[in-house]
Amino acid sequence: MLHAPIHHTFAPHVTFRTVLRSLALILTPFRWKRGAAVESLRHALADTFHAEAFLFSSGREALLALLKALDLRAGEEVIIQGYTCVVLPNAIHATGAVTVYVDIDYHSLNMSVDAVEHAFTPRTRAVICQHTFGIPSDVSALRELCDRHHAVLIEDCAHVMPDPSGPSAISSRGDFILFSFGRDKAISGITGGAILSRKSDVSKRLKEEEDRATDLSSLRIARLLAYPATYFTARLLFAVGLGRIFLKCAQLLGLLVPILRREEKRGYMSPLLTRLPNACAALALDSFRHLRPINDHRRALTRFYLAEGRTRGWSLLSSISEDLPLQKFPLFTKNADRIRRSLKRQNIHLDDGWTTCVVCPPSADPLLAAYDPQSDPEAEAACEKILTLPTHPTMTLSQARRLTEILDPLL
Ligand SMILES: Cc1ncc(COP(=O)(O)O)c(C=O)c1O
Repeated sequence: MLHAPIHHTFAPHVTFRTVLRSLALILTPFRWKRGAAVESLRHALADTFHAEAFLFSSGREALLALLKALDLRAGEEVIIQGYTCVVLPNAIHATGAVTVYVDIDYHSLNMSVDAVEHAFTPRTRAVICQHTFGIPSDVSALRELCDRHHAVLIEDCAHVMPDPSGPSAISSRGDFILFSFGRDKAISGITGGAILSRKSDVSKRLKEEEDRATDLSSLRIARLLAYPATYFTARLLFAVGLGRIFLKCAQLLGLLVPILRREEKRGYMSPLLTRLPNACAALALDSFRHLRPINDHRRALTRFYLAEGRTRGWSLLSSISEDLPLQKFPLFTKNADRIRRSLKRQNIHLDDGWTTCVVCPPSADPLLAAYDPQSDPEAEAACEKILTLPTHPTMTLSQARRLTEILDPLL
């Protein structure tokens, strides 16, 4: 029997409707760079999260814009957690500031509040707390610490966007909130990012950064808009074993836009900022308007995996509860890498770039990202043992059932 692929990264947000929307946008190039969608998205985010919103062509650029607006000086410090994406230290490095890694709590995959407390120095300007995979960080405790040390708290919500059903703590205590509209994030515009500001003096400088940002090239926008159709087709072809060849051809034709550039994996980020293209804002806005059903779907899959895991005795993270709209469902196992390899033979692709690396993906160089090996033992242990299960909008419950049936005997 033929099965559609189970995956994390093959255009997880892309439905037939997204394909039609992006093709309609391809055919109307006058809407690619500027248009009403950018302002509509800005207002929607600002109204929902009670903050001013500034938009850029990726989450990492939104973060860099904020760090510039905070006027970080060389040698000043920004605290982030181990087990994070390389784009965070890159953005910090691009400002001349210093990245200070702290270890995580094994069972939440989020920064340990104790470790943060010990990491503060007189040079600390900011703490970036990441709600890893949608698991809420302890923002109340971090808020209190930041207030005590006169540092700003940046909530990195790249993995989760709360809706009226929660999680209510997320986005509630930060001075600034970071969102990503990347392909596998909480909502998707194929690319894009926002920084939401609750500090009016910094908002003024963020506006200047956004005004100075340049447009992405038309060619790049066209390639981004081709992504939904390309991956939608690839997914169909994976069911008959031709997906990989199709994607190779698409790559040779220059249709694929990598999420990370080679130099980013080597610790470098360009200091130049680019605007969120109107076409991507239109797709992100569409996705934002469906946030509640998207999150409800994620909650349903979280509940399903949690119930299965409890019944079957899997090694679950104690911080996961039924009500979380997880970006992906993590569990621990001794043989994570071997299991992922063996699942590929059944058209199940669980590589997501967040395994075997404290600074992710594994192809990023942790030393160039200023990570001192063995300094975050909990993060190093967790990333070796982690196996994540998809909860994205195009992952169905019947696929989740098939996955658990196949996975259980391997654990
Ligand atoms: C935790 C985290 N923060 C920020 C980002 C940046 O998002 P973007 O890909 O839109 O630059 C990522 C990207 O993967 C991420 O995982």
